[in-house]
Amino acid sequence: MYSLRHRIFTALAVGVAVCQAAVTTVSVSATASHAIPTTLFGQMFEDINSGDGGLYAEMLQNRAFQQVTPGTSAALSSWSATGGANITVIADSKPVSNALPNSLQVSVPGKATTAGFANSGFWGIKVNSSWTYTASFFFKFPASSSQSVKFTVELRSASGKTFASQSTTVSGTTTAWKQVQLTLKPTSSAPDLNNQFVVLVQPSGSAATTVDFTMFSLFPPTFKGRANGMRMDIAEALVEMGPKFFRFPGGNNLGQTTATRWQWNATVGPLVDRPGRVGDWGYVNTDGLGILEYLQFFEDAGMEPIMAVWSGYSLGGTSLAENQLAPFIQQAIDQINFVIGDSSTAPGALRASLGHPEPFTLHYVEIGNEDFFAADTYPYRFRDFFGNLSHAFPQLTFIATSDVGDPTLTPTPQAYDVHVYQTPSWFAQNAFYYDSFARTGQRYFEGEYAAISTNANDLFGTPADGRLSFPTVQSASGEAAFMTGLERNSDIVFAASYAPLLQHVNSTQWTPDLVSFDAGSVVRSTSFYAQKLFATNRGDVFLPATLPSQTGTVFWSVSKLNSTQEVIIKVANSGNSSADLAFTLPFNTVATSGTLQLLTGPATASNTPEAPNTVVPKTSTITTGKTIDFTAPGFSVSVIRVVAH
Ligand SMILES: *[C@@H]1O[C@H](CO)[C@@H](O)[C@H](O)[C@H]1NC(C)=O
Ligand SMILES: *[C@@H]1O[C@H](CO)[C@@H](O)[C@H](O)[C@H]1NC(C)=O
Ligand SMILES: *[C@@H]1O[C@H](CO)[C@@H](O)[C@H](O)[C@H]1NC(C)=O
Ligand SMILES: *[C@@H]1O[C@H](CO)[C@@H](O)[C@H](O)[C@H]1NC(C)=O
Ligand SMILES: *[C@@H]1O[C@H](CO)[C@@H](O)[C@H](O)[C@H]1NC(C)=O
Ligand SMILES: *[C@@H]1O[C@H](CO)[C@@H](O)[C@H](O)[C@H]1NC(C)=O
Ligand SMILES: *[C@@H]1O[C@H](CO)[C@@H](O)[C@H](O)[C@H]1NC(C)=O
Repeated sequence: MYSLRHRIFTALAVGVAVCQAAVTTVSVSATASHAIPTTLFGQMFEDINSGDGGLYAEMLQNRAFQQVTPGTSAALSSWSATGGANITVIADSKPVSNALPNSLQVSVPGKATTAGFANSGFWGIKVNSSWTYTASFFFKFPASSSQSVKFTVELRSASGKTFASQSTTVSGTTTAWKQVQLTLKPTSSAPDLNNQFVVLVQPSGSAATTVDFTMFSLFPPTFKGRANGMRMDIAEALVEMGPKFFRFPGGNNLGQTTATRWQWNATVGPLVDRPGRVGDWGYVNTDGLGILEYLQFFEDAGMEPIMAVWSGYSLGGTSLAENQLAPFIQQAIDQINFVIGDSSTAPGALRASLGHPEPFTLHYVEIGNEDFFAADTYPYRFRDFFGNLSHAFPQLTFIATSDVGDPTLTPTPQAYDVHVYQTPSWFAQNAFYYDSFARTGQRYFEGEYAAISTNANDLFGTPADGRLSFPTVQSASGEAAFMTGLERNSDIVFAASYAPLLQHVNSTQWTPDLVSFDAGSVVRSTSFYAQKLFATNRGDVFLPATLPSQTGTVFWSVSKLNSTQEVIIKVANSGNSSADLAFTLPFNTVATSGTLQLLTGPATASNTPEAPNTVVPKTSTITTGKTIDFTAPGFSVSVIRVVAH
């Protein structure tokens, strides 16, 4: 995500402004115009303080000293010594694996009882007495000794209260790496997140001892109980929104340089074989959340991937020449084969060996990310990637990431990924954005969109300059107005996702975001609820209706669900005054009551960590019939469901 362009709104001089005092009659057709794709609403993800320390449930930060410079204090980020121990990160002459060259070297005095070290987590550690935690680490002694050493692993408050403790005693002759695994069951929950993971090192004798450690891990119970899985509360919030796809692994995080690009094969297999990488947002990605963990999560969550392959351009600004592309095209083929190839392909066989012989679902592959930033080189990169990939995988749809039609790509892309960050009123004024697009078979993925400021002149300043810190009722209403247009145009728009998805409130590089969280809790934003209202009320088919005024502030879309014979009316009011609407339904039988789900509140109201439930949708019963009278409050998103046939 990083679209610095301001899209220019070209107002169409048609339509009559809605007179606020009068009732607007909306005649709904009984005949559907098109099926609405099941993939219409989903989520866009990349690790921007939201995979490591977020969706990925690992609780320890800098757990394996990946991609750090040994001997520096930065290498010890999140770690501290306790009780007279000395700690330093070394370039290990006998590392645990080629992928993890660094170790934590810890020296403690003889007979130490309180010496050890602690990790402070991702801005805190949640201690919940209902949970059983899984803790592990690797250790070895650089020099063999006759002393035994007791390791005590604890969950503690910063002020020293112990919530959970487990010990194991090891022989001082252990000079080859060995893994310790323990479970921790807190005796009480911690009142706050100011807690640490502590390892005490206690030699049996009076001689000082030095121990090397690496690849620490602390997991709470995970979503669907998957080992190395997802954080339950975050995953549950994401699933609650009703997404049907998940765009991954970036976004920008696809690659800042050729060398540091995301590579699928560096993210699979045992955690000690994953080197990690410096991600595009300036910190180390562990790649514990690897391609298989992503895919397993999508399957568990009922989503399908929209997967990006790196396409020879890095956000740092470098494009590869055409004659350099071949190995990267092969790596993209390998990446796709890991997802869907059978065991006759090496990546497919690897997937089977890792426990998933069946192919995963995959229909969409994106060629690059925001390659409008390298529009000069995209024509040959797109041509060569698309040419080779579509030959190898004719069943897949490939998505171009340059601006639609600019530059001219050959062959013509099957689909485009369109991004826009704008004001709430821009979104409302562009509810008809796709209506004028030619129906030539090309389809569109609105892959990133969000109302990020109410100030059109200052969309990309810091929050103090006008950027929203959290979505507001006004921003969500504007997005919802735009989404009525996505539904109406879902004959060509097959997917759409708000971006960014997740925000760790203690390490934020972009606001606003759909879901915010800290080490202990999750905040669903107003935009989250707008997305949820659309995604969980998606009809099977679109019913044309009287069009809203393109220059007005009130927008609607109507669809029908086959299985329940419900007509679903969505109304977005992006203006500050209420609007009286009358929907006329041309069906023989219309139920006399239906349900109304309504999200509304003051324009600037937000859900925040301090007040997470300030604005939530309310469900009520509404009187219905062949004519449904409905007053949409100012700044609101409404969904009416009524059985009609
Ligand atoms: C820790 O480092 C200090 C300063 O270098 C040294 O005096 C002390 O002996 C060390 N302690 C251990 C246990 O190695
Ligand atoms: C994290 O952010 C929350 C909300 O702003 C704040 O209350 C808390 O003190 C922060 N924690 C840390 C460790 O900075
Ligand atoms: C502790 O965990 C239980 C079980 O997962 C959960 O129901 C409860 O909400 C958690 N407590 C807190 C304070 O998060
Ligand atoms: C991943 O595969 C590429 C070739 O596609 C190779 O250059 C690279 O070394 C591999 N990385 C790892 C960590 O295996
Ligand atoms: C495949 O990629 C190579 C290397 O870039 C290129 O020369 C070739 O034309 C591509 N093949 C197709 C069918 O596009
Ligand atoms: C719903 O019904 C319409 C027409 O009756 C049909 O075209 C469409 O395929 C159906 N969709 C689903 C998901 O059942
Ligand atoms: C309501 O919105 C209109 C524009 O749609 C604006 O002119 C007016 O100032 C707004 N009123 C309030 C009270 O915000």
